[in-house]
Amino acid sequence: MIRSNESDFKAELDMLLKTNRLGKIVHVFDELDSTQDYVNKLPVKESVNGTIVIAKRQKMGIGRIGRSWVSPKGGLWMSIIFRPGFSVNNVIFTQFMGAVAVAEAIMDVTKIRCTLKWPNDVLIDGKKVCGILVDVNLQGNNKVIVMGIGLNANIEASSVNENLTDNSIRATSLRKEFGNEVDLVRLTKAIVDRLEYYYYELLSTGKTLEILDLWKKNSDTVGKQATVFDGNETVAGQVIDIEQDGSLLMKLSDGSIKSVTYYSNVNFR
Ligand code: BTN
Repeated sequence: MIRSNESDFKAELDMLLKTNRLGKIVHVFDELDSTQDYVNKLPVKESVNGTIVIAKRQKMGIGRIGRSWVSPKGGLWMSIIFRPGFSVNNVIFTQFMGAVAVAEAIMDVTKIRCTLKWPNDVLIDGKKVCGILVDVNLQGNNKVIVMGIGLNANIEASSVNENLTDNSIRATSLRKEFGNEVDLVRLTKAIVDRLEYYYYELLSTGKTLEILDLWKKNSDTVGKQATVFDGNETVAGQVIDIEQDGSLLMKLSDGSIKSVTYYSNVNFR
């Protein structure tokens, strides 16, 4: 089903969502520069836990490590606010949790099995269908985590691939893999349901190893050759394991072992 306007989308989502804590406030826009940027700039008092911001298209979608994110109409572009009590060291698990939630939601709606690539990619058949971007905003004593989910749902994968400027992984879309238009409201609901469960049952109670296990079960990262930018330099080697703190343990070509920790954008204001 293709929806005619955003308010229909919101009304249907509000009706379907049965979550207790996430998605109590949902804003749906026809167009934004970036949902992530919009949410990051919200004043503290409007950064209410569980708030969801969705844009039908983004003019300046933001990807990881300063990349842009192609966000035409038909994709699922959303940012969710979490106001956690846990340490920022657990932020990487927020990304793992996001990727697991998206993969399970895709399985639920389309029966397609995804694989997960460290730290934040969801793949179908080796091609990226979704990326997760986590920002941490520290505002005095307040900690606001903004999880951005960019899911190439009903878009042309070529619109993304044409814009790849580096050797980034190729993109696909859910419609392409599924062979049919995907119901965006159902997909959104399925993601938010799982996020609520994993956030409250696991992440906020400190069960990060359970999240890591779920992530590992769906990942084929271990054993792969990888090139990783660790914030300072690009290193290449073979992935030996994912450590308990979520970092990537690699054996480099010179035989040395390196642990690569992913840090998202941490902003102070
Ligand atoms: C990545 O680089 O893999 C992460 C991409 C995250 C894109 C999403 S789309 C919704 C939210 N708004 C943005 O501008 N970026 C994130």
